[in-house]
Amino acid sequence: MSETLQVSTSGGASHDLPITDGTIRATDLKKVPTAAGPLATYDPGFMNTAACRSAITFIDGDEGILEYRGYPIDQLAARASHLEVAYLLLYGELPTAAQLEGWEKQVNTHRLVHENVRDLIDAFRYDAHPMAKLMAGVASMQTFYPSSRRIDDPEARELNMIRLLGKIPTMAAWAYRHSIGRHFVYPNDELGYVDNFLAMLFQSQQRVYRADPRVSRALEVLFILHADHEQNCSTNAVRAVASAGNDVFTSAGAGIGALFGPLHGGANEAVLAMLRGIGSVDRVPEFIEGVKAGRAKLMGFGHRVYKNYDPRARIIKKACDDVFEVTGVNPLLSIAQELERIALEDEYFVTRRLYPNVDFYSGLIYEALRFPPEMFTVLFAVPRTAGWCAQWLEGVTDPEQKIMRPRQIYTGPRERDFVPMAQR
Ligand code: ACO
Repeated sequence: MSETLQVSTSGGASHDLPITDGTIRATDLKKVPTAAGPLATYDPGFMNTAACRSAITFIDGDEGILEYRGYPIDQLAARASHLEVAYLLLYGELPTAAQLEGWEKQVNTHRLVHENVRDLIDAFRYDAHPMAKLMAGVASMQTFYPSSRRIDDPEARELNMIRLLGKIPTMAAWAYRHSIGRHFVYPNDELGYVDNFLAMLFQSQQRVYRADPRVSRALEVLFILHADHEQNCSTNAVRAVASAGNDVFTSAGAGIGALFGPLHGGANEAVLAMLRGIGSVDRVPEFIEGVKAGRAKLMGFGHRVYKNYDPRARIIKKACDDVFEVTGVNPLLSIAQELERIALEDEYFVTRRLYPNVDFYSGLIYEALRFPPEMFTVLFAVPRTAGWCAQWLEGVTDPEQKIMRPRQIYTGPRERDFVPMAQR
């Protein structure tokens, strides 16, 4: 028999509410009537609210487990490609060899963007943040592909998600090239998804830029780790915008905006700034004291869901070794390791269950690959597009979904008469 929650209201009525099965136990409180209307929850930041049902990504924050469609993240990171994972997220199953070949072909033939997108990116000031350029480029896509607005048409939905997956590396690379004043590099059919992205970023005078395979594989692993993370801030933004009936480009544009924030995807950029600010290993204890006194935050630590070591951080630590083999060790690594060592023993961090998250080490890799810090969040947005597409699709096809519109507890004044200007 399924579990129920018994709620009694002051009028003496009692209500048996079914508790849903799943990863968190939840019920629908609006089934409890009160004198002022159905019972609501007060939950700033949605810390304890399930906003949808989802079959895409499973997280057990206490145990530090992450699975996409049931497959553990460490197995996917060790053995799959990013496009294989994108297929898994979207369609729910790992592709066969033939399906993967067809899928790669489909996505890769959609890498070119309309020439007007060049002009759009070119129109930004030389020092514009690449995330702003990426957000504008992605949001503009629905104007080039009006079929994307037909969100009830399965074929149009699929085609436009594939377009987005194909084009986002191109726009991301061009956003970067624009900021360094270099010519835009067009996609190359001879190269796979990640290698082509690296070529569009770094090609100089070579006919074809070929990345070191160790670097390319490390970036592929980072892409897989960042592909989805259930109802995080940017995915929630994607789903909220989608819930108003929006296409995948408009919704992903909102996701990029959310990801830009320093408490979310912008944290890896903030980690590097923090490590540089600390400057040397001997200044780590002083910095930690400042964090405990509330003068700073230890960026790259803590997570809304993980109250254990973020499984992605563990895999990234290993990818660090692979990249540093090619690039030489990033000198900031020793500061990061010392911060982690002290924090994992310190009572402040232990009692609050604060552990390194995905952003703690990823910035060190990106910097070793010579990406400027402004590109770090872009390198998060490109792979997260796979998850945003899967979550967008799940949201717009979910018969239980409604326009996302939370309630509020109004605390302001009421029923005041307008005061004419002369009497104020
Ligand atoms: N440094 C110092 N103290 C921290 C940190 C941190 N990084 N994170 C949380 N705390 C403290 C809080 O001050 C709070 O202490 P208190 O109980 O004494 O008030 C307690 O731990 C709980 O923290 P909350 O802020 O309530 O936790 P929440 O779930 O709201 O925040 C968040 C999670 C935003 C990730 C937070 O840990 C943080 O700001 N971390 C740094 C930024 C970061 O690395 N973000 C990347 C997250 S991963 C991602 O988005 C891909």
